[in-house]
Amino acid sequence: MSEKAVGIIGIGSYLPERVLTNADLERMVDTSDEWIVERTGINTRHIAAKDQPVSALALEASRAALGKASFSPSALELLIVATVTGDMPFPSTACVLQEKLGAFNAACFDLNAACSGWIYGMDVAWQLVRCGRYRNALVVGAEKLSAITDWQDRNTCVLFGDGAGAALLGHTSSGGEIIASCLGADGRWGKLLYMRGGGSLCPASHETVDQRLHYIKMEGKEVFKQAVTAMAGAAEAVLEKAGMRAEQISCVIPHQANMRIIKAVARKLAIPFEKMCVTVDHCGNLSAASIPVALDEAMRGGRVRAGDYVLLVAFGGGFTWGAMIVKM
Ligand code: UT7
Repeated sequence: MSEKAVGIIGIGSYLPERVLTNADLERMVDTSDEWIVERTGINTRHIAAKDQPVSALALEASRAALGKASFSPSALELLIVATVTGDMPFPSTACVLQEKLGAFNAACFDLNAACSGWIYGMDVAWQLVRCGRYRNALVVGAEKLSAITDWQDRNTCVLFGDGAGAALLGHTSSGGEIIASCLGADGRWGKLLYMRGGGSLCPASHETVDQRLHYIKMEGKEVFKQAVTAMAGAAEAVLEKAGMRAEQISCVIPHQANMRIIKAVARKLAIPFEKMCVTVDHCGNLSAASIPVALDEAMRGGRVRAGDYVLLVAFGGGFTWGAMIVKM
């Protein structure tokens, strides 16, 4: 590996303390543990406290990532937060996080590519560090989806959770090198997964609240199909870019929306299911946080060893998708 390789030099994640079980949900909406487990593979999810905005989750994950690399926040040059549940429309959650971290030498912005946001952020940061514009970057995926979940809608409320993951990018000579990346989007599918209220299209009003426009709406079945096709396509595209074959991948970290999606993607790519990292069972869907949280868990759990090629693949609202290969 060359001295100048750019890659992940620290990773960390955070899940809030409170755990919401399927049994808890049975008491809230007309659902059952059996349905949730069979249709989604989810058993539990973490829910942030009332006084924990998404920046508080991002802070814990960021401290963990910086700590792993023994990296001082004041040395940070770029801070990107991928989220659809920022503390407020503006200023950016990246700026809020900057203050909490004390990373006052970093340029800051938020990035919205829904569930693919962290991969989008990683791609952008990778290019900016690679071309020498910044020497390092912290890319955070953080979501408090419980804040935009309609707790009366059984179609969606069983699916989501809260959490955050962060990766520090920099020059590395000891692994973590990013090998290839690709991104994509198709805005024609936007209305299959969206939150309509609260922006300039439908500013918050009594009517938008009455119409429950400040919650996630999803056409689950169609999103499911597109997710499988787009994730498999992105994985194939990034493998081609890297000049690699699927057999060379030791571990896949897919977006965690549904166990059946993860299984279908593995089948499509002819990758054994054992190589797929799964956190959806205990985290639910964490949107932009799902991949960094799963990657951190995989590393802590010893599923990823030095020299392994890891494939990260995302899909989300927009629609957006993306994939990245990292040599650990
Ligand atoms: O993160 C971005 C990407 N997001 C995704 O990829 C999510 C993709 N979609 C999915 O994961 C699945 O489509 C869902 C888990 C959301 C739904 O599973 P499904 O197998 O597609 O179910 P469905 O929506 O077709 O609903 C089947 C039945 C319906 O009843 P009827 O109309 O057949 O009588 C639903 O009303 O299941 C019913 N249902 C439920 N029943 C019990 C829907 N939600 C629930 C529930 N509990 N929570």
